[in-house]
Amino acid sequence: MTIEKAPVHDFASDWDHSDPEWVKDPYPIWDDLRQRCPVAHTERYGGGWFPATHAGVSAVANDTEHFTSRTVVIGNGRPMEDALPAPIGVAPPITSDPPFHQIARRLILPAFAPGPVNALEPMIRSLCSDLLERVAGQEVINASSDYAQFIPPSVIKRMLGFPEQDEDLFREFVHVILEGIDEPVEERIEKFAPIEAYFQAQIEEHAQNPREDLTTFLMNAEILGEKLEPQHVAGTMILVLVAGIDTTWSAIGASLWHLAQNPQDLERLVNEPDLMPFAIEEFLRFYAPVTMARLVKQDMEFLGCSMKQDDWILLGFPAANRDPAVLERAGEFIIDRKENRHLAFGLGIHRCAGSNLARLELRVAIEEFIKRYPRFELAEPSAVTWAAGQVRGPRSIPIRVA
Ligand code: HEM
Repeated sequence: MTIEKAPVHDFASDWDHSDPEWVKDPYPIWDDLRQRCPVAHTERYGGGWFPATHAGVSAVANDTEHFTSRTVVIGNGRPMEDALPAPIGVAPPITSDPPFHQIARRLILPAFAPGPVNALEPMIRSLCSDLLERVAGQEVINASSDYAQFIPPSVIKRMLGFPEQDEDLFREFVHVILEGIDEPVEERIEKFAPIEAYFQAQIEEHAQNPREDLTTFLMNAEILGEKLEPQHVAGTMILVLVAGIDTTWSAIGASLWHLAQNPQDLERLVNEPDLMPFAIEEFLRFYAPVTMARLVKQDMEFLGCSMKQDDWILLGFPAANRDPAVLERAGEFIIDRKENRHLAFGLGIHRCAGSNLARLELRVAIEEFIKRYPRFELAEPSAVTWAAGQVRGPRSIPIRVA
């Protein structure tokens, strides 16, 4: 069940990131807000703010004194303080505040360093090739539901050491956590129960059969000579699953969606492979999939707004990426853009820990796709659908490949 909501008439005073207009095409809304506000307000979700400029997003993301990451996903309630209170939060390190944040982050960084991540390339390449083989011979394939959606879950499953057959469950978990934002709080808590039970079962199974994976690593890790709290282990596993799946699936999908409509960019990418590193950064900038939230710690004036304790701030990294105040021709996709210091992976202490892996998956997924199909086009533009919520990407992309 979702809560019935009135349509939005003015995003400056009543924004809603699950409004159909925002979900379908948020860019004109953000361009407008940037000129008019630039910090939009809403009473929805118990009150919140949306800075649409690069300066506004950076100011909040860099300020851990006035904003907490206790929860980063907006919902109708406020986070369950009793689950694992600040500064650790329910999914460390993303829900941890300083100084604990640095400890929780340092713990997982080695798993996402270039060495171990690059070692995954042959596996990702053969996965992509196998997925394309499954739909070989079809005139129209779905670049999201036949291809992009399978790549990140398969990689994350191997990192965490989870069973082969559970991939569908992971997408369901991610859906509950990221997209069930309009559900009443009690219903949301109820839906979280099986997710927690699943992770608990995985931890128990790993305790019986330890092996070389991130789950076993977290179970053995220590902070100041003490094993991690069980909720810390489970919370970080959930974070890796959620942070690693929807995000990268969205980035791969949006990039293929772009190429399906821009034959000149596709042709250049096929004929000039040296363009790939620049293209990857431009895909990430232009179609940045992730927006994350903060909560205001105490009543205060900030960016000219009277913010109240526990108001949400939605960090529009994708909106900041298109701010003409910091980037020339910010509203244009330029496949060989050289200067590209985008915020797709966030900024400040919570900057994405998995960016090496995300870039690798995105590059290999595109390389394999265009190797198999050097020419393709959108088969049915009206059939393209977008995920609602804080991670935005296409969920259906019918593409004509022959
Ligand atoms: C294109 C794909 C991805 C994008 C656009 C992306 C974006 C982001 C952003 C914007 C943040 C900052 C959140 C905040 O400020 O609250 C973040 C944090 C994080 N991401 Fe990613 N991400 C991607 C893929 C991944 C992958 C593949 C993983 C790992 C499997 C991952 C793991 C993390 C973790 C652990 C954090 C929390 C870091 C911290 O709090 O210190 N991400 N990501």
